[in-house]
Amino acid sequence: MNIYVDSKMSDDKRRGELYRGAIFIHLPSPGALKLCRLAQDMVEEAFYPLNPLTAHENLPPERTSEILAIVKPKFIHHPKAKEHIKEMLHEAGCELEKTYFDVPRLRTAFPGDYLKSGIAYAFHAHRDTWYSAPLCQVNWWMPMYEVGSDNCMALHPGYWNRPIKNGSANYNYHKWNAESRHNAAQHVKGDTRIQPRPEESIDLEPEVRMVCPVAGAYQFSAAHLHSTATNTSGVTRYSIDFRTVHLDDVMNRIGAPNADSACTGTTIGDYLSAVDSSHLPKEAMALYLDGTESEYSLSPTVG
Ligand SMILES: [Fe+2]
Repeated sequence: MNIYVDSKMSDDKRRGELYRGAIFIHLPSPGALKLCRLAQDMVEEAFYPLNPLTAHENLPPERTSEILAIVKPKFIHHPKAKEHIKEMLHEAGCELEKTYFDVPRLRTAFPGDYLKSGIAYAFHAHRDTWYSAPLCQVNWWMPMYEVGSDNCMALHPGYWNRPIKNGSANYNYHKWNAESRHNAAQHVKGDTRIQPRPEESIDLEPEVRMVCPVAGAYQFSAAHLHSTATNTSGVTRYSIDFRTVHLDDVMNRIGAPNADSACTGTTIGDYLSAVDSSHLPKEAMALYLDGTESEYSLSPTVG
């Protein structure tokens, strides 16, 4: 597995490398810093007068969950977030005319046993491709505050292209949207929603924990097995992630190998043009639709 730091490789070559399991680490760019600043401001305002990194010491999990249930969607749908992502993608050498991204997520990982479900779900080891992501999806992850190896996320490269028995066959993205996602804030104590997870014991070692500066970002294939590293730092980890696809790869069905994903449905309707925020062309989406999208009427964007 190759790890590239601040690489100037062309985006076409870079995606080829990503589909072979490489990781690209980007230094903080002006657009990425703006995206981080926007999220920091929103989180700091939401927890004011508490410090968001240590607010959990003074708030019951139910209250924290309520706060996150407001601030997370507010960030996700903030118009400025989309603009900053577009700027960041341009700075990272992406061809904007053919690059599509989904709205950014704001994630939290609390220390110890504090709030591990629902709105602050601690992601067990998974591949995004178990969650109906196309094999050409690239994930971008960045820390909002300083992180260390004790509160970041982890990749498990030993499972790149190595099948794991998993529950993805029971997952359909459109069903998830219709039935589960909007209930996230209700799952404070335990999360009963069905999510694809490994169904055999897996060895998370070797694991790679990448520590980069605030607004630094790393890019990796959606097919990589990854997880929320157990946070033993004492402070809450805040991060931003979003995903991109490139139109040529969508159309040509190029991407990472599918080791073991058997989910149905597709996230193909979620990606927005880095130029004008329009959806992928209908003919591109049609390649990924499997008919299940019409079974669930609340599915917001596909079709
Ligand atoms: Fe993920």
